[in-house]
Amino acid sequence: MTRDEELIRLALVARALAYAPYSGYQVGAALRTRDGRVFTGANVENASYGLSVCAERGAVIAAVLAGARDIAAIAVATASSPPAGPCGMCRQTLAEFSRDLAITMVNDRGEVAHATIDELLPRAFRGDALP
Ligand code: THU
Repeated sequence: MTRDEELIRLALVARALAYAPYSGYQVGAALRTRDGRVFTGANVENASYGLSVCAERGAVIAAVLAGARDIAAIAVATASSPPAGPCGMCRQTLAEFSRDLAITMVNDRGEVAHATIDELLPRAFRGDALP
């Protein structure tokens, strides 16, 4: 199994842990940092809907809290066809902790799509724009 296939497998495993009783839409994410560590996340919803946290941001927070701030690749797993990409808020969060981020989108039927963060969030706002 390649490293990318392993990331896909872990995103699908994480998806099964999603807490999504309100939307019924489960999302899993698995990311790999440049030093080779892997972190996972799943969406965690709340009865106060706006408090819901996406899978991708859960995985990013897990990585940052472990001291890993340089994300090289992420796989996002949903049930959508074609496989869904990260939401806008998650794209911005991923841009903060990556450069040439490789994003793999998959679904539970084995469909796979690829993109980079630059394709999904062109001209991202980053800290170096701040005075
Ligand atoms: N969701 C994610 O976890 N990641 C995304 O990129 C898009 C949306 C979650 C949020 C909410 O729990 C559910 O999917 C429906 O929007």
